[in-house]
Amino acid sequence: MGYNNNQMIVKKFVTGAVKDRVQKSEKKDGKGMKRIGLLTSGGDCQALNATMRGVVKGLSHNIDDLEVYGFMNGYKGLIYGDYRMLTAKDFSGILTRGGTILGTSRQPFKLMRTPDDNGLDKVEAMKQNYHKLNLDCLVILGGNGTQKTANLLREEGLNIIHLPKTIDNDIWGTDMTFGFYSAVNIATEAIDCIHTTASSHNRVFIVEVMGHKVGWLTLYAGIASGADVILIPEIPYDIDKVVGAIERRKRNGSGFTILAVAEGAISKEDAQLGKKELKKKMEEDRKLYPSVSYKVAKEIEDRTGMEIRVTVPGHTQRGGSPCPYDRVLSTRLGSAAAKLILNDEYGYMVGLINGKTKKVPLEECAGKLKVVTPDAQEIKDAKRIGISFGD
Ligand code: F6P
Repeated sequence: MGYNNNQMIVKKFVTGAVKDRVQKSEKKDGKGMKRIGLLTSGGDCQALNATMRGVVKGLSHNIDDLEVYGFMNGYKGLIYGDYRMLTAKDFSGILTRGGTILGTSRQPFKLMRTPDDNGLDKVEAMKQNYHKLNLDCLVILGGNGTQKTANLLREEGLNIIHLPKTIDNDIWGTDMTFGFYSAVNIATEAIDCIHTTASSHNRVFIVEVMGHKVGWLTLYAGIASGADVILIPEIPYDIDKVVGAIERRKRNGSGFTILAVAEGAISKEDAQLGKKELKKKMEEDRKLYPSVSYKVAKEIEDRTGMEIRVTVPGHTQRGGSPCPYDRVLSTRLGSAAAKLILNDEYGYMVGLINGKTKKVPLEECAGKLKVVTPDAQEIKDAKRIGISFGD
């Protein structure tokens, strides 16, 4: 890799307040030298390391001198000056490793302008740490909330590149986020395993799939595993229609039914409530059921008397090694980010659109959610083969 000798012999982690830095080299002009910061923020997913590797390799193979500072545990590291200088070794052997070598945390965007318990102005602190390290840019890997803070830092004058991470695939401006297909694989396998036991026992099985407020993960895992009913937040369900689908299967000789239910699935009645009423209703439901799947299970049981079982794979969906698709996607996005940095082009998310990596201005995509539209091709195709969406 193209690190200079100085960095290759850095053995010690440089962690702590910026003023404690043990190394500081003068910024050089031109493309020969870059000094970048990296951070991963929000919930983790499978290809974070692979993406950072793509960025760093894309730079180190094209310039003589590269300094990489990793901020620990998301924006927390940037706020409190907790970082370490990374060497080539840090990026070796991490293509297949899940999680993030930098650690991550959730730092809500809405609290970024609120001083911390000691009165620290977080935005000012982040800017100061960026400038003290004399960074050329900060590469931020994260989902929607992370992206909003990335855009805020851009507005504050920092050079920012955002890379779209999430198993939810809900980032506007990119067809695909890294992490999504790895999670689809895991959720699909979970439903596959349920299939054999469901058919032996003639039961109704519900598998609850992550995805926050959107249904991409449930939709894809549901189709991939042959689920009979798929419930997603974008298509509020009518429980009688769900029961109708189960009974129709019974009449056709299938004693079991498998439902893939998104953690954000919502009934038709609840979807009609105003914001305040819905919040209250959700709080009441939370006292009765651990999650939406248990509510759906109770409603089906009450109407059919059938035995229902609920499985929640939960955070396993974010775990383990990235699948090959995500390794390719994250390498491409990371490499494209490196290209932008080499050209001194900042203020963008790097997305995938129609199979091509594209720069998307942060001001255009920040704060927007990519949801499944009820008339999406995937939904139409699934309905045509008899999958019920409970609508
Ligand atoms: O955004 C990724 C995600 O896994 C969502 O699908 C899920 O709703 C949420 O994070 C879970 O968050 P946490 O890890 O904080 O429980």
